[in-house]
Formats: sequence, C-alpha cells, structure tokens
Amino acid sequence: MEGRARTSAAIFILCSILLPGASAQHERNGGLRVGFYDKTCPRAEEIVAEVVSDAYKKNRGIAAGFLRILFHDCFVHGCDASILLDATPSGGETEKESVANAKSLRGLEVIDAVKDKLESECPGIVSCADTLTFATRDGSVLAGVPHYPMAGGRRDGLVSRKDDVILNMASPDLPVRNITELFVRKGLTQEEMVILTGAHSIGIAHCPTFLYRIQDYNETHRIDPKLDAADAFKIISTCQQVSSEKMVEASLPLDAQSPFKMDNSFYKNLLKGKSLIESDSAMSDDPMTRPIMERVAADEKKWLTMFGRAMARLAAVDVKTGTKGEIRKNCRFVNSHKFSSTPVRLLIPATLADIGQNLSSSDISSSEVIPSDNIGSAQDFIISMT
Ligand code: HEM
Repeated sequence: MEGRARTSAAIFILCSILLPGASAQHERNGGLRVGFYDKTCPRAEEIVAEVVSDAYKKNRGIAAGFLRILFHDCFVHGCDASILLDATPSGGETEKESVANAKSLRGLEVIDAVKDKLESECPGIVSCADTLTFATRDGSVLAGVPHYPMAGGRRDGLVSRKDDVILNMASPDLPVRNITELFVRKGLTQEEMVILTGAHSIGIAHCPTFLYRIQDYNETHRIDPKLDAADAFKIISTCQQVSSEKMVEASLPLDAQSPFKMDNSFYKNLLKGKSLIESDSAMSDDPMTRPIMERVAADEKKWLTMFGRAMARLAAVDVKTGTKGEIRKNCRFVNSHKFSSTPVRLLIPATLADIGQNLSSSDISSSEVIPSDNIGSAQDFIISMT
C-alpha cells in the first residue's frame, strides 16, 4: 500500500518534471495579464521601477530580500501579499511572525514606500501583491537578470496565519524529494525548483540557518561531512566566536564570490561542494537535480532566461483575481482594519535604518517604541499604536 502510494507520488512528480504546467488543478496565470495597468494606472510599473532603483542604490540587499519575500508569500495562500500583513481581522499571529520569516525579511519598508507612491498616483488601483511582484522583478533585474515580462492582476488576501507557513515552506534540512513534492503541489516543476533556487546567487543566510551543520550534526558526525572545510571554518569564526545575541543576527553571503550579482557562480560552487544551506547541497548531489545544475552552471545566459520565466510562473501560484480579495490601501493591514481601539503590533525590521528610510512622523506620533523581547531579535522592535 505504502509502496503503491510512493509509486503514484513518483509518477506525479515525473509528469510534472516532463510536462511543465501539467498540474491542471492550479489555475496558471488565470486572470493575470501583462500590461494589466496600462489603462487604469499607466505609470504603475514605471513608478515601482523608480522607487526600487532609488532604494537599491542605498542597499543592494533589497533585491535578495524581495525574492525571498515573494517566494514565501506565493507558497502560503498563493501570491496575495498575505506575508505583508501586520495584523488581520482574526487578531492571530501573522505569517511574518513565523520562524521562517521573523527577523529575516528584508525590504518590507521599500514595498511600503512603493505602495505609498502608487496610492498617491492611482488610489485603490494597484494591489500589494502586484506591487511586491513588480518590485521583485525590478530588484532581480538590477542584480543582473535580463528584463522579463511580469503579468499583473493579482488581488490581496485577507488572511495571514503564522501556522500556515510551516506547512507550506521548505526548510533547509528537508530531503530533495520532499522539497520537490512541495513545489509540485504548487504547480511548479522540479526543474523550476532548481532554477528558482538559483536566487541564492545573491543574499545572505543567518547563523541559526546553518550552525547545526557544525554542532552535533548527527549521531555519527559532529560536523556535516558534506560541508566544505573552508565553509565550516567561516561558520565557526562568524557564529561561534560571538555572543549568542550577536550570533542570531550574524550572517554569511550565500554566494561569497558575487554576493550581489545574479550569476551562475552559485551553481558552479555548489557542484564543487560549497554551500551553506543543506538543501542546496542535497540538490547538487541528487541524481535528478544535479544534471539540471550542471546544465545551468555551464550556460549562465540560459539560466538567467529560465530564471525570468520561472519567476513569472512562481508569481502566478494560486493567485486571487477578479472579485476575490481586495486592493489593500496599506500593505500592512486589510482595508477594514480599525486603527483606533485595539493596540496592534507593527513589525518593522532594522533594515529600515539601513536604507535610510523612515516612517512618516504621523505614523509614530502617538506610538510608543518598545524593544521586542518576545519576537526574539534585537533587530526587530514593536511599535504599539493606540
Ligand atoms: C528550494 C527550497 C528553498 C529553501 C529550503 C530555502 C531556504 C533558505 C534559507 C534557509 C535562507 C536563509 C534565511 C536566513 O538565514 O535568513 C534563504 C535565503 C534566501 N532565499 Fe531561499 N530557499 C529555497 C528556495 C528559494 C527560492 C525558490 C527563492 C526565490 C525565488 C529563494 C530566495 C532566497 C533569497 C534571495 C535568500 C536571501 C535573502 C536575503 O538575503 O535577505 N529561496 N533561503
């Protein structure tokens, strides 16, 4: 019985690998259209590109931040900007507060700035989901991906639940088979999974993501035998020789050779056994995924083109279109949110300071800024609005 289930799962995965878009239950691109705002807000994509370009000049890290936010958004309730919500009508903890997101999302304040500009030019027209998607495309283009068309027409979700994140996100210690199943469940192929994971060509990972690889890794090995010696040394010096508070915030580049450039050196290094994230390393060993990596490691142009196409497919996962959801005015709150009575917690990462952006004084005039103990990072703080 178990064997039969495994065979069916294998056939399903194989079909999805061979026939991109074979998962018919996913409404691919349903309702999305390139040039969606041509009539309703003709400058929408231009505005996004301008704000992102200005912010990128101050902090190139936002390109990586956006890619990760979009991936985490699309895999939980579809690409509906649910990850951007600070509070929902249910009052529960939101996706942002999940361990997969808290402390580490970068660029949220730039999305706010883009949305503010869009609202002042075309109020109530451009969704937060499209704002995030266009910003992500533009960030990746600034980092080296040739410009690719991105459809618009997504609407914003009303639900964001912390507990839904863990059920839908890949974690670095998951085997390749499980991560593939997750991507296939979202209507993406195994090849697209490998191509999209090339986003790790830019950006950073924090010590808690990889420290376990050098600390009691398993019963037989204290250090992960797959870990390159130079990487192990870097982890020790970055994460172990600092206080535990500093350790949580310390990070290493995912591609030390070119940390801000979308290029295929990430794949080349992976094939040589160099990788911080265990699942990336597992993909370079797996007999199904290694050949895909070998192809793109040998042809950077091919990977960059495939990356743009795969991004457009990722950004179409389980989208809400037509009359579903809403067009949020403020990406952090649903439109029915009442700002008056109940105190809400507004989660703002420290990158705010990094890029020299600030909340407008009206946002914080009646607020009390309290260092956050319970969110667990010195980087975050809570503004209690009353
Ligand atoms: C295949 C499964 C994947 C796993 C297990 C995974 C896991 C991770 C982990 C653990 C980090 C480091 C987080 C931290 O320590 O702060 C990370 C960073 C990152 N991931 Fe992934 N990831 C996957 C796929 C993807 C995909 C598909 C994309 C985008 C298309 C992506 C984009 C990024 C980026 C750009 C960063 C760096 C973020 C930054 O610098 O702020 N990842 N990923």
